[in-house]
Amino acid sequence: MKRVAILISGGGSNMVTLVQSMTGDHPARPVLVLANNPDAGGLQKAADLGVDTAVVDHRPFGKDRAAFEAALMQQLSAANPDIICLAGFMRILTPEFTRAWQGRMLNIHPSLLPKYKGLHTHARAIEAGDAEHGCSVHEVTAELDDGPILGQARVPVLAGDTPDQLAARVLPMEHKLYPAVLRRFAEGDRTPVYLP
Ligand code: GAR
Repeated sequence: MKRVAILISGGGSNMVTLVQSMTGDHPARPVLVLANNPDAGGLQKAADLGVDTAVVDHRPFGKDRAAFEAALMQQLSAANPDIICLAGFMRILTPEFTRAWQGRMLNIHPSLLPKYKGLHTHARAIEAGDAEHGCSVHEVTAELDDGPILGQARVPVLAGDTPDQLAARVLPMEHKLYPAVLRRFAEGDRTPVYLP
C-alpha cells in the first residue's frame, strides 16, 4: 500500500476528493494532511475524514525558506509518504526540496499547462480570449508549474464568463482528474489521463 501525504493551504476540496478516493482496492492510503496555514479550512475536513493533520506555519520563518522546508521535511519524514500531493498548496518550494521528492510529488494547477503558470489563471484565460480552459496534474520539478504532465481536463470558456464562474466550472473537473491521476500514478503508471 502506497502512503500519500497531501499538502494544502486553504479549503482543501481537492484534498477531500483525494482522501475519499483512497478506499477499497485503491493502491494508496492517506497518511497525512499538512497545511502551511493554521486557518486552512481543509484541516478540519481532513480530521473529520479520520486523517492525521499537521501545520507548519510558514510565517514565523519569514524569508528563510530553507528553515520552513526543514520543518516541513520533519513532519513528512515522520509520516513517511511514498507520494506527496500538492492540492492548493500556495507556497513556492525550493529546488532542493523538489529534488528530494522528484518523481514522487504531484501538483494540480488550474490551467491547461504549459499555459498560465503562476496565479490568476482563470482571468488570464478569459483575457486571452481562449475558447478552452481547464486543469493539469503534473510531476513537480524545480521549475514552477512545470514537469511532466500526468493528466488534463478541459472545459469551455463561455461568453461573458467571470474568473469566478470559470473557476467554478474548472473545479469539479479538478475533483475528477486528480483522483484519477493519483490512482494511476500509485499503480506505477505515468500514462497521462485526459478528461473528459
Ligand atoms: C484549486 O483550484 C487548485 O487547482 C489551485 O488552488 C485551488 C485549491 O482549491 N491551485 C493552485 O492555484 C496552485 N498554484 P482547494 O483547496 O479547494 O483544493
